[in-house]
Amino acid sequence: MTTLDARPSTDALVVAHSPGAPDGEWWRDAVIYQVYPRSFADGSGDGIGDLPGITSRLDHLAELGVDAVWLSPFYRSPQADAGYDVSDYRDVDPLFGTLDDFDAMLARAHGLGLRVIVDLVPNHTSDEHAWFVEALAAGPGSPARERYLFREGRGEDGQEPPNNWQSIFGGPAWTRLPDGQWYLHLFDSRQPDLNWEHPEVRAEFEDVLRFWLDRGVDGFRIDVAHGMVKAPGLPDWDGHVSMIEGSEQAFEEAEHALHEHASGAAERVDEVTGSGNQGPMFDQEGVHDIYRAWHRVLAEYDGDRALVAEAWVEPLSRLARYVRPDEMHQAFNFAFLATLWHAPSLRDVITASYLASDSVGAPTTWVLSNHDVVRHASRLGLATPGSRPNGIGADDEQPDEELGLRRARCATLLMLGLPGSAYLYQGEELGLPDHTTLPADVRQDPAFFRTQGAELGRDGCRVPLPWSAQEPGFGFSPTGEAWLPQPSTWARYAADAQRGVPGSTYETYRTALRVRRAEALGSGGLTWLPSRDDVLDLVNRDVRVVANLGTEPVELPAGTRVLLASGPLDAAADGTLLIGSDTTVWVRP
Ligand code: GLC
Repeated sequence: MTTLDARPSTDALVVAHSPGAPDGEWWRDAVIYQVYPRSFADGSGDGIGDLPGITSRLDHLAELGVDAVWLSPFYRSPQADAGYDVSDYRDVDPLFGTLDDFDAMLARAHGLGLRVIVDLVPNHTSDEHAWFVEALAAGPGSPARERYLFREGRGEDGQEPPNNWQSIFGGPAWTRLPDGQWYLHLFDSRQPDLNWEHPEVRAEFEDVLRFWLDRGVDGFRIDVAHGMVKAPGLPDWDGHVSMIEGSEQAFEEAEHALHEHASGAAERVDEVTGSGNQGPMFDQEGVHDIYRAWHRVLAEYDGDRALVAEAWVEPLSRLARYVRPDEMHQAFNFAFLATLWHAPSLRDVITASYLASDSVGAPTTWVLSNHDVVRHASRLGLATPGSRPNGIGADDEQPDEELGLRRARCATLLMLGLPGSAYLYQGEELGLPDHTTLPADVRQDPAFFRTQGAELGRDGCRVPLPWSAQEPGFGFSPTGEAWLPQPSTWARYAADAQRGVPGSTYETYRTALRVRRAEALGSGGLTWLPSRDDVLDLVNRDVRVVANLGTEPVELPAGTRVLLASGPLDAAADGTLLIGSDTTVWVRP
């Protein structure tokens, strides 16, 4: 048993981040909820979620207490990558509704006080986009081909791809056309990469930004924000191309480095947060010009519109360059998401995150789950908790569901106790795990097909939400249909089974968001208190956040009042409260 120090001496405190003004721009401390439209709520009954479905459930989000919603793509698309293959950036796909449905959704959200961010996919279009269709018809050497990255092949008769790049979804990043030319696609062959050196491409996307800004959106999440500009000459690269998995080793190395050095994380941001070399297709200097131009477009509009970067860039000092004052406003902090369930590593990545983002005056942007990774309730139930398999299937190690949920709640309360902005992925407020036994014949992720099943892909985290325990399809759709099957055990996670139930995951999230807002934690500061190695102990404004990742309980100091706990607290014989294993508490000192 360990007793927390009620009043540690000031020498022992480590200030990682100082508080800001509580009334800064909205995105600095916002909690933003990711809606994955095809799996949130289905209004039409076809088993695929849609905009009217979202509108009908926005009150759930207002009641939960988030500040904003980010919608994954709902634009016209053949859905080769679930909508991240856009064929018309200015229209809604009939699967999801119409532009009028979008306007109605936006009006309802704004009426409820929720801001709305939409997804912009500028690295590539769909192969059904008018420009690509035109480029194919126009043939080699035509101006229409200049908007994409068409090249002649290497070797005899150009039979070899122009370089050795691999697609992030598996297989070569080049596809050859019957006319002999090859085109580049960092993702699926149905997602040709645009040529961002082309002025028409730049002009078009500024216009698309304006189209949605004029409709009233509050910002954009920029897909593959680190990928649009490629190194001149598209040189070969022998490294491993990945956005979604693979940095576990980097973190093990970082952890090793941590034990080698006795100094604070401040000088070690780069060691703590990865190696940085992602090859000639990512994180090129030229992307920053694009974001400076977009920053100016958004600045023409009122209301603090914001850009958030999806940039899988290491180390964090490189990521910070995307959020310099004249570029984007936020960038997802994937280094935090990628950290194993290990208190010293988490402490260091958190400190390093502030150091990096404070160096450019930007907020950190915490995230634990999204539509591309195994949900944190499942990741944290694995034998190596926090590792990131590329999907989980029936033949794989199955996560411990109860332990995973306990840790997920612990991780979430740690995250929501930190200053900065935070992103929640739909369903995490219900404690949802991944579907970890999806059969091959229902899988839809192109990564599954391009790797012949070697990578299971991301379908497990995209299963339609359970709203009502008793209804067919758990109330996702009026017909009970769902585009991916839901596990039969999900009744216990349904929103209506948790609403009003003290201690449920949903009510815990709600209370956390209420306290976070009331105490202005999002714009607060972070001071580390000395603690056992497996305990994170910090103060943010008037709230002390203690996360016990160890196996031994921690005793709360006398005189503190518990505001919130991620799980039940036991009491010692003398009545002192104990923070058990994998539990976070928020207390008022
Ligand atoms: C981003 C999206 C992912 C998509 C990829 C290609 O990483 O989050 O879902 O497959 O970009 O657009």
